[in-house]
Amino acid sequence: MILYDDIVPVQIVPQSSDQGEFYDEDYDGFYEYDDIASITTSLSTSATDYKFENGRRYHGYKEGQWPVPNDEKQQNQMDLVHQVYTLRLGGKLYLAPIDECPQKILDVGTGTGIWAMEMGDLHPSAVVIGNDLSPIQPRWVPPNVKFEIDDFNEPWVQTPSSYDFVHAREIHGAVSDWRQFCSEAFRILKPGGWIEVAESAAELRSDDGTLPKDCALNTWLNNVSEGFERIGHTVVVGPNIEGWLREAGFEEIAVKVFKLPVGLWPKNKVERDIGAFNLLNMIEYVEGASLQIYTRVLKVLQTPAAPT
Ligand SMILES: C[S@@+](CC[C@H](N)C(=O)[O-])C[C@H]1O[C@@H](n2cnc3c(N)ncnc32)[C@H](O)[C@@H]1O
Repeated sequence: MILYDDIVPVQIVPQSSDQGEFYDEDYDGFYEYDDIASITTSLSTSATDYKFENGRRYHGYKEGQWPVPNDEKQQNQMDLVHQVYTLRLGGKLYLAPIDECPQKILDVGTGTGIWAMEMGDLHPSAVVIGNDLSPIQPRWVPPNVKFEIDDFNEPWVQTPSSYDFVHAREIHGAVSDWRQFCSEAFRILKPGGWIEVAESAAELRSDDGTLPKDCALNTWLNNVSEGFERIGHTVVVGPNIEGWLREAGFEEIAVKVFKLPVGLWPKNKVERDIGAFNLLNMIEYVEGASLQIYTRVLKVLQTPAAPT
């Protein structure tokens, strides 16, 4: 988390209970305390030191970690993803059988924070924390929702054994070591806690075999996937996640596979609605996912020279 490695070493949680009301061994979110307001201010400043390239805006904190923009265009795309997933799950935000009154929920790589905010409304008993490299979440949020600038590829800073639920969605291509990711989640979850990982396949298929493997769309997706792999970020999650979770210590693992249609071809209304949102999502995604990967990683396109 930015607080620990970039700014100043601050002891957020006092070591003894004689520090009065500020003592909180379950502390999990530095926005709660007025006395570190100045630190959060400098955090915000460094995290909003955005980088601009090819007309798009990228995160500033841990620059270069995530080669996808964080501007409004990309935020709209993330909200479309939320719509696709929510429709796919029949209006639900998750499938894990968590307790009715969870107390702590972590949404890693929260993006626009839309899932975390809806989760906060759904579970008023819980504090829902969403973390991300980019501070792009709204300021006016449900009172039980908080956002933090954090890098989930670093050791997690949350109190061990304190969370009921960890949620990770559409972060393939961002995680550098899934084994470490799963064990960090395991470490911060309470015994009996749950993790839900929801990732789409980096592959397009058609039911009737009419989408050739070497069509332009698949060629593009293969190139982008190769680019992400080259920067050390695994994109193939589905077939491996069960093993990674089991190695980390999780039990009772259920893997569910769903179709995510793209386009208006399905006859069934729900599928067609999902397909419509997903088509828009893909159209919005192509440019953002390709620019840095094609210019900086695969080096098949040139970044225009900066004006002199
Ligand atoms: C494709 S978006 C998914 C957003 C959200 N989970 C959703 O489903 O709507 C991936 C998000 O992960 C964030 N991200 C990428 N690398 C990260 C890292 N190392 N630590 C924290 N967040 C990261 C990005 O900034 C982006 O907001």
